[in-house]
Amino acid sequence: MSEVKSIAHPNFALIKYWGKADTESNTPAMSSISITIDTLSSTTKISKNTKSRENIWTLNDRKQYNLEQILPTLDYLNKISKNNHGCIIKSSNNFPTSAGLASSASGIASLVIAYNRLFDLNLEFDTLMKASILGSGSAPRSLLGGFVILNSGDQINCEKILQPDDWPLTVIICITDDNEKSISSREGMEISRRTSPLYKAWLDSNKTDIQKAKSAISEKNINNLGKIAEENCFRMHEVMRTSEPSINYINEKTTLCIDEIKKIRSSGIDLFFTIDAGPQVKIICNSEDKDLIKKKLAGKPYIIDLLEANIGSGARIVNED
Ligand code: PMV
Repeated sequence: MSEVKSIAHPNFALIKYWGKADTESNTPAMSSISITIDTLSSTTKISKNTKSRENIWTLNDRKQYNLEQILPTLDYLNKISKNNHGCIIKSSNNFPTSAGLASSASGIASLVIAYNRLFDLNLEFDTLMKASILGSGSAPRSLLGGFVILNSGDQINCEKILQPDDWPLTVIICITDDNEKSISSREGMEISRRTSPLYKAWLDSNKTDIQKAKSAISEKNINNLGKIAEENCFRMHEVMRTSEPSINYINEKTTLCIDEIKKIRSSGIDLFFTIDAGPQVKIICNSEDKDLIKKKLAGKPYIIDLLEANIGSGARIVNED
């Protein structure tokens, strides 16, 4: 086949990864739990560059001159496929790129899946996971749908804990600023690992946070899950803040948004929120409450857009010709 097209969705971590065990293999120093999101998606089209060894990558129709993010993954896969040619890769996102919405996770997961099919590699999940991690430590989570755990340690593994339909929560994404972040997660994590006085405590708290989140998920208890997810999220942002130089992805609009969300919660609606390496706020709620929550947030001057998603499925091939 000449071109393969794949799709993958971003995933939002409820128990977060911020810090690497090893920079070369890009492996996370801690375990994480995420949900894959359905309406936001990254699409990758890949074909062989039959004319040369050059890799040509366009992202949202723009030629990329810095291939740093995809090269480790491509090199790893090229070794397996014994490919001596370059690849022509066209990636696009239907949501803001590099704005704290996990576009690198979905982008890399879709690339890995597409490459695997283009070269007919039939790789085992473990190899797809390793190829994905090289591009983004959170990308393996986007290979899978539903609730996903990425276990760190000597034996890294990634698995689904719940199917998308097992607990059909809704995610409302409050976009407060869609500009690209000034500091990448990769860079930020290294700064935090080296300099934050809270980094060790952050690492040490991971096991307990994972346990608490796992039991809240198995009981489908949104309030217990929300409590630990918010604690974990703020702890990560404290690690960032106490880094040298200080890293801050939360702006004034994010804070106003959080205040309003807390107000909505005090009015009796079960929900929780999380924030990643960008100023957007993601609300997780029961599906039946989504319209009321969106109504309460509509027209707020600090929210430039409200996106809605459900729990989605994993990376997949959509067509090939
Ligand atoms: O995988 P990266 O390099 O995009 O880092 C993800 C970092 C966070 O989104 C802040 C946390 C997480 O676990 O997704």
